[in-house]
Amino acid sequence: MPDRIVQAPWLQHLLEAIYFVQWQLLQCLHRLGLVGTHDGQPAWPWRWRLSGENLLIDLGQARALLIGLGVLGMLALLLLAAWRWRRLRWPVALAAPLVLWATPWPAAHVLLVPAQASSFHQPAVPWSDQAIQAGAQHYAQHCVQCHGVRGDGHGPLAAQQRVWPPNFAGPLLWQRSDGDLFAHVRQGMVGRQGQPTMPGFAQQLSVPQTWQLLHYLRALAAGQVLRATGEWAQAVALPDMQLRCSAHNKTSVRDWQGQPLRWVVGTGQEVLPDPRVVTIWLPADEHNALQQLPPAVDCLVTSQQAARQTLALLLGQQALSATPELGQVQLLADRHGWLRARNGAGGSAWSEDDLICRTQPTAAPEGASAALAQDGLGRLLRLMDATPVRFVKGGRLH
Ligand code: HEC
Repeated sequence: MPDRIVQAPWLQHLLEAIYFVQWQLLQCLHRLGLVGTHDGQPAWPWRWRLSGENLLIDLGQARALLIGLGVLGMLALLLLAAWRWRRLRWPVALAAPLVLWATPWPAAHVLLVPAQASSFHQPAVPWSDQAIQAGAQHYAQHCVQCHGVRGDGHGPLAAQQRVWPPNFAGPLLWQRSDGDLFAHVRQGMVGRQGQPTMPGFAQQLSVPQTWQLLHYLRALAAGQVLRATGEWAQAVALPDMQLRCSAHNKTSVRDWQGQPLRWVVGTGQEVLPDPRVVTIWLPADEHNALQQLPPAVDCLVTSQQAARQTLALLLGQQALSATPELGQVQLLADRHGWLRARNGAGGSAWSEDDLICRTQPTAAPEGASAALAQDGLGRLLRLMDATPVRFVKGGRLH
């Protein structure tokens, strides 16, 4: 399976460009009043769209597209030149069709995929512990019978379906755009012969509830992948949580963007103060939630119930709401908000082995000897900065 964390910079730029151009076109059409809205966002008016996700899998086709675009650019310049200088007209008129014919164009079925009105929709609710927990409730009510408690497609009704429900712990959820998944849950799906396979839930679920469900599915899948492989093959962002901080202008995880965060679960007393990270404390259970923050802690999670259940879900400890047994655990999020490392011992001794979301270095981490002189946490922070996450979901860089 291809890694959804892409390395090649040219491919990233190409994917970004493909998305950006279509997104801008849609916004323009919407502003001009040429397209309406669908479920609260501008509706994609065509039955097809350019696909970034297929190019991610098929590098050869991505290269062909790049060459094709280059050729079109050159031809545009030549046409411009021919318009300016008469002498060039005939040669250009002869050469243009030849060049177009000889160019290795990408296959249409790779580049173009069926689109929905909501293909370019963005989640309308934030990635937060509250949303994920709300999603868990809808899942238990509407989806678990087919998709199973672990999202592996082994619910009690699964065997009666025309096709087997998918295992969410595979790359599927990351291959699809948010908007396409949204459409599949609301409108349902049909098989090759047009027979219904997955029922639609537009009648039972509101638009925000559908987004909450998709957040839940991603969190569930991340936990199951971690459980099975010990790593997050797809990057996971630290969910937003409500906080009470010693800095009074910060009230949620989002307010700390740009800083590495340490998410400490446990009694909070054993962690040492560390100015290199913002320390967010989630008491292991409600009873030892102190009024006074321990000295090493910058913020206390106030949405504790939702945060605990979300954490247990992300770590693959449990699939549906129960009272999770978290024990002592620490997680590190890099300054872009991606969860990168886990320390199960709950102690201060971090090492590179704690990384559970790995990427290749984009540049060699400079000053290896200086890094050696640092402690485990220092080395991890440097490593996270030197190997940033380039995460692609639904053919789009996040
Ligand atoms: C009656 C059984 C059933 C129920 C209930 C059900 N699903 Fe499905 N679901 C399926 C089947 C079968 C598929 C595979 C469909 C296919 O590939 O054609 C599927 C596929 C999916 C997919 C993959 C979509 C894709 O793009 O490939 C998602 C996401 C999904 N379901 C979410 C949900 C959610 C969320 C709920 C609850 C609101 C739900 N399902 C309820 C049977 C069910």
